[in-house]
Amino acid sequence: MKNLTRRNFLKTGALATAGLTVLSNQAIAMAQAVKTVRIAVVGNGNRGTGHVNNLLTIDGIEIVALCDLTESKAVNAANICEAAGRKRPAIYSKDKFAYKEMLDKEKLDAVIIATYWDSHTAIALHAMKNGIYPGIEVPAALTIDDTWQLVETSEKTGIPCMMLENWSFRQDNLAALNMKRLGLFGDIVHCHCAHSHDCIDHWFFDSKTGDQKWPAEYLLKYNRDQYPTHSVGPVISWMDINRGDVFTEIYSSASASKGINAYFKREFGENHPNANLKYRQGDIVTSLLKTKMGKTLVINYDLQLPRPYSNRWMLQGLKGVYDEEKSSIYLTGKSPQYHQWEPWKPYEEKYNHKWWQADLSSLSHGGTDVVMLGQFTDAVRAKGPTPIDVYDSAVMTAIVELSGISIEKNAPVPFPDFTKGKWQTNQPYFAMDKIL
Ligand SMILES: NC(=O)c1ccc[n+]([C@@H]2O[C@H](COP(=O)([O-])OP(=O)(O)OC[C@H]3O[C@@H](n4cnc5c(N)ncnc54)[C@H](O)[C@@H]3O)[C@@H](O)[C@H]2O)c1
Repeated sequence: MKNLTRRNFLKTGALATAGLTVLSNQAIAMAQAVKTVRIAVVGNGNRGTGHVNNLLTIDGIEIVALCDLTESKAVNAANICEAAGRKRPAIYSKDKFAYKEMLDKEKLDAVIIATYWDSHTAIALHAMKNGIYPGIEVPAALTIDDTWQLVETSEKTGIPCMMLENWSFRQDNLAALNMKRLGLFGDIVHCHCAHSHDCIDHWFFDSKTGDQKWPAEYLLKYNRDQYPTHSVGPVISWMDINRGDVFTEIYSSASASKGINAYFKREFGENHPNANLKYRQGDIVTSLLKTKMGKTLVINYDLQLPRPYSNRWMLQGLKGVYDEEKSSIYLTGKSPQYHQWEPWKPYEEKYNHKWWQADLSSLSHGGTDVVMLGQFTDAVRAKGPTPIDVYDSAVMTAIVELSGISIEKNAPVPFPDFTKGKWQTNQPYFAMDKIL
């Protein structure tokens, strides 16, 4: 996994660019002075182990402790650390509250939380109360109450709280953000995004037996956008949400729930128990969000029908439009042919973000995860603000419960202002160090 180019990038690129983004000169000096970030990872399953592997490629990080309900998973992650020549992390796996002992006992700067959805908030709250930066896997919370608790605890303790929304750090999305900030699209009017990702056989249910995996219980209990953060992550910066604008309402609607039953009939036959079980979750959820400044956003949840992966990002302003699925762009007065698409790739290269200086394509999610973790750990090292703050984490997360309420009521519901009015004066912040 390791190569010189990437290591150099992570050593010099990530730290330097985080400094340019959000930190004062004094903070940069602090960042360079504090050598090692002491970190723990709770949840050492698929994603948590990926984070361990990625953290091992970043200089100036010590993985001090690991925690999982299943001891063998934590042991496996500890073995990975040892095989990479690092000190063996301490292991905590007594029960589902073992993370508390770990956060109380170990001297930690940060904790990565990659457990099941239902424990993210509790672990993050415990971390912040101990002065530890939480980096929370998606979604950060499942209810509006828990989302407010994250916001209020971060404000009270002064500890930044970041949801690890990796798609905000994608090379294409950051190039689009650079272009938006340079005014190439004009004022933004409308965006669209989706999480179109058939997760049935590798995430919700075991592909060999059809047995339920942990998230499938949510498909039985709820009808809502269960997983909005990957789609909406980059869009909130394109739309200046929490910084000049704010969501005011969400109106969600769900199609019938047919895809899960159809999958089981197709793969396991009519008599499989899940072939006729009543799932509440509709196959496609469409949410329409409005903003105070008159922008609109459409988000699609689409995780249980057979289809190739897509996020269908679209960004539309007074001067032009970017369409990710078409890999195309049109800018009035600039594109060579009137009302004809032109290819996106040359724009992505021209407006490439500084966080993407090296070819990271061989890494997980095309390098996006390591860019994100590099920026998160640089912020921890500097004891400065994280690239995604608690308010942006809250907005992405709140869509889960709000969409469910809206579907149930068949009516729009108000969207909370987690900044309590500060959106009016907050300046654009995420990934502010530019291209050139
Ligand atoms: N950002 C991304 O691209 C991405 C990709 C996949 C998963 N995820 C997110 O990562 C998280 C984990 O997903 P996964 O696929 O790794 O699931 P997983 O089931 O493979 O791993 C979760 C692990 O958490 C452990 N765990 C659960 N509760 C715990 C507790 N209280 N204390 C200690 N350990 C506990 C489980 O034993 C399990 O090993 C989820 O929130 C998921 O949404 C994000």
